[in-house]
Amino acid sequence: MISNLPDRIFLCGFMGAGKSLIGHKLAEKLERTFLDLDDKIEEKAGQSIPEIFDETGEAGFRTLERRALQEVIREFEGVVALGGGSLQNQHMVDHIKLNGLLVFIETPISVILDRISEDQNRPLLLDEEGNPKDRAQLKEELTALYEQRLPLYQQAVITISNEGQNPDKIVQTLLKKIRNHVEYY
Ligand code: S3P
Repeated sequence: MISNLPDRIFLCGFMGAGKSLIGHKLAEKLERTFLDLDDKIEEKAGQSIPEIFDETGEAGFRTLERRALQEVIREFEGVVALGGGSLQNQHMVDHIKLNGLLVFIETPISVILDRISEDQNRPLLLDEEGNPKDRAQLKEELTALYEQRLPLYQQAVITISNEGQNPDKIVQTLLKKIRNHVEYY
């Protein structure tokens, strides 16, 4: 057990970084509740993420995402896996950091591409007809998006790389980093 834990631990990082899996395992170790922000958005909307994108576009999804996050900050305590785009701007980063401990799960874009390019549940990976974008286009688009988001992810208080390590090992290292952080401050 770690005493003096912040009320919330937020995990950020790109799609396919393993935020949900690591979040689950971390919450178990800390004996805290786990929440996946994407699940909360779907539950509140009564629709899947692809359906929300279909109906309201990305802008509509981002509005729901902001509202869900506000609700989490008001009502939830525990470990939260954010979506890859939840850190929408500097204001959001500041707000999250005021309300919990922000952790960045760092994964090279090459690993991400291998992991997620076939995923049908992530609308940003699909073309207008709902088919997977071709690999070259996807690589170009996701690399640009990753670079755009990186300065926001990098403001996390703790960064952990998940390259070449199994999730249990990552969680072990993360627990040490959290303990050091909490004890120091
Ligand atoms: C998104 C990431 C997804 C989900 C939505 C948009 C993004 O979450 O919120 O499809 O903009 O990167 P994951 O990071 O859990 O895949």
